Amino acid sequence: MENFVTLTYNGSEIKLPVVIGTEGEKAIDISNLREKSGFITLDTGYANTGSCMSAITYMDGEKGILRYRGIPVEQLAEQATFKETAYLLINGTLPNREQLTNFSVMLNDNSLVHEDLKTFYQNFPRASHPMGILSSMVNALKSFYPTLGTREEEITLTMTRLLAKVRTMAAMSYKISRGHKVVYPRPDLTYCENFLNMMFHTPVKPYELNRAAVNALRVFWILHADHEQNCSTSAVRVVGSARVNLYAAISSGIAALWGPLHGGANQAVIEMLTAIQEDGGNCKKAIARARDKNDPFRLMGFGHRVYKTYDPRAIIMKKMCDELLASLKINDPLLDIATELKEFALKDQYFIDHNLYPNIDFYSGIVLRAIGIPTKMFTVMFAIGRLPGWIAQWKESMDDPKWKICRPRQIYTGEKEYNFVPIHARE
Ligand code: SDX
Repeated sequence: MENFVTLTYNGSEIKLPVVIGTEGEKAIDISNLREKSGFITLDTGYANTGSCMSAITYMDGEKGILRYRGIPVEQLAEQATFKETAYLLINGTLPNREQLTNFSVMLNDNSLVHEDLKTFYQNFPRASHPMGILSSMVNALKSFYPTLGTREEEITLTMTRLLAKVRTMAAMSYKISRGHKVVYPRPDLTYCENFLNMMFHTPVKPYELNRAAVNALRVFWILHADHEQNCSTSAVRVVGSARVNLYAAISSGIAALWGPLHGGANQAVIEMLTAIQEDGGNCKKAIARARDKNDPFRLMGFGHRVYKTYDPRAIIMKKMCDELLASLKINDPLLDIATELKEFALKDQYFIDHNLYPNIDFYSGIVLRAIGIPTKMFTVMFAIGRLPGWIAQWKESMDDPKWKICRPRQIYTGEKEYNFVPIHARE
C-alpha cells in the first residue's frame, strides 16, 4: 500500500502522507495542505475529520467494537471496578494491587469538598438543572484549589480531586435542591456505594446498599467512561488546547454533554417514552413522526455518528437493565414501551436505510430510574462516568509535544468589501 495520496487540480498535483492506525484505519495527513495547495478542507460536523492521534479508546462503528486501552468494554463491564477502569484510561494500564490501594486512598482523602461550596449550591434557584450547577461548580474548584508546586504534582492531584469530588458535588446538589441534609462520603464504602449512600441516606432512614443497584451503577459508569472524540471530549480537548486549567476544560465538557443530542439524550429518552405512554403507548405514531422530515421529532436514544450497526454498550445496558429490574422486582412500563418501539424501528425501512439503532442512552434511563436517580440527574450520571475519559484525553493532548491550540479555518460566504455609511446617510 502506498504511504501517500496524490491530489490533482487544474493540472497541478501534490502528494499528501497517509497515516495508518493500529487497527488499519487510514487518514490523509493534511497538515501541510494549505501551504502546498492553497486549499483547506470543509467537513461540517467533522464526520470525516480526525482531530488527533489517540491511544486511549478504539471504536469500530461497523463491527460494534469498543475497547479502552485495548481491553473490550464487555470484559471491563463483567470484571472490573469503575476505579480500575478510570485508572486504566488515565494511566494506560490496569493498576497492580499497590497502585490500586494508593489510588483508593487518594480518592478517599480528596472526596470532601470545601464547606464554602455549600453556599454556592444554596444560592442556585431550586429548579436549576444539575448539569448547569455541576459545570459551574467544577469551574469554581479552581478558586478553591489554586496551583500547587510542580506541574506533575498539580496534574496528578487535580485529576484525583476531580474524580473524588465529582460524586460528592453531584449528590450535594441533589440533597440541597431538596432541602435535605448533605451526606458526607465514607471511607468504608466503594466509589459506587459512596455515591448511592450520599444520594439516598437520611438521618431518619439509613440507606440500605442494594448489591444489584451498586453493580448496575458500576456497569453504567464503566460503559460511559470514554468514547474517543465525541462532542464533549472534543470540547475538553479544544478548550484544553488554550492551556487553561483542567477544571475549566472539564467544565466545558460538562456543558457540551448537557445537549439533548449528546449526553442529554438519556433524560430525553425517558421524557419521550413517558409522552408515548401518556399518548396511549402509540409507538407507531412516534416512528411515523421520526420519519417525517417536517417534524423536528427524533427518536431519542436512536442513531449514532459512529455506530452504524449497533452500539455495543446498548446491548450490555439492556442485559443489565433486565437483570436489575428482575432483581428489584420492578415492572417498569417504560421498558415495555422501549422494547416495542425498538421492535418497530428495527423493522422500519427508514431506520434501516439510515442505520439507526439503539444507542447507550436508549436503556440507560430505565436503569437509572430503577436505582432511584431522578430524571434531571441522568446526564450528571453520564458526566461522572465520562470524567475519567475526559481527563485521560486532556492528559494525552497535554503530553503530546506536537499539540497546538485548536483553531480551525473557514470558508467565508459573506458580503464583498464595501464602505461604511454614516447614520445620517442611512435610511
Ligand atoms: C451520545 O459521539 C458519541 O460517541 C456520543 C456518545 C458518547 O458516548 O459520547 O455515544 C453519546 O451522544 C449518543 C447519542 C445520543 N443522542 C440521541 O440519541 C439523540 C437522537 N440521535 C440523533 O439526533 C443522531 O442520531 C445523533 C446526533 C446521535 C447522530 O447524528 P448524526 O450522525 O449527525 O446524523 P444526522 O443528524 O446527520 O442524521 C443522519 C440522518 C438524518 O436524516 P437525513 O436528513 O439524512 O434524511 O439520520 C436521521 C437524520 O434526520 N436521524 C434520525 C435520528 N438520528 C438521525 N431520524 C430520526 N431519529 C433519530 N434519532
